[in-house]
Amino acid sequence: MGNVYVFDHPLIQHKTALLRKQETSVKDFRELVKEISMLMAYEATRKLPLEEVEITTPMQKTTVRMLKGEDIAIVPILRAGLGMVDGMLALVPNAKVGHVGLYRDPETHEPIEYYCKLPNDIEKREIFVVDPMLATGGSAAAAIDFIKARGGKKIIFMCLIAAPEGIEVLQKAHPDVDIFIAAKDECLNDHAYILPGLGDAGDRLYGTK
Ligand code: PRP
Ligand code: URA
Repeated sequence: MGNVYVFDHPLIQHKTALLRKQETSVKDFRELVKEISMLMAYEATRKLPLEEVEITTPMQKTTVRMLKGEDIAIVPILRAGLGMVDGMLALVPNAKVGHVGLYRDPETHEPIEYYCKLPNDIEKREIFVVDPMLATGGSAAAAIDFIKARGGKKIIFMCLIAAPEGIEVLQKAHPDVDIFIAAKDECLNDHAYILPGLGDAGDRLYGTK
């Protein structure tokens, strides 16, 4: 079974609290999503493989440890996942970015795919699938299905807020995937929204409500 990491860092907790407040503006919401994603990326990239490389400093030759190749892919689940990409790219600027487009059917809450474009060499890459919300888990599980069907193997899922129901569904569907969460919430409501949550992440990022 994959590991589940819930962050207890004070900066992440503080910024996630600001994100939840209904009076937080679209501009501040976007900035907070970016900042939290960057802080989370620092920890979520902890196990990336390193290789020894010989370099020359102004003083002498030396062997240092550097990231092995440029073998990272960030895959946001459209549309809200897009908000997490820039924060991650701030730390891993050479990562390639794929996109999976999904939306939840408002009646059934089932994910419907409308777009998928991944780097050609996705099978070689460490893949970070990002989406601010893990509610029923249907979208994340389906997105990872699509990525695996196209060859993706080493996958990590990162979200800001998760419901226990979503964590369980994702772990069952993809036991090989580690999950990084800024805050684990209480439950889902009757419309499969997370409580206390932050509302609709896509609408809050893009001001569409
Ligand atoms: C939201 C969110 C996740 C999904 C989570 O997207 O960004 O992708 O719901 O719910 P689930 O775990 O129950 O599948 P939404 O479908 O609202 O689309 P949007 O990002 O385009 O707003
Ligand atoms: N999607 C959201 O944006 N928010 C939720 O609470 C659940 C799904």
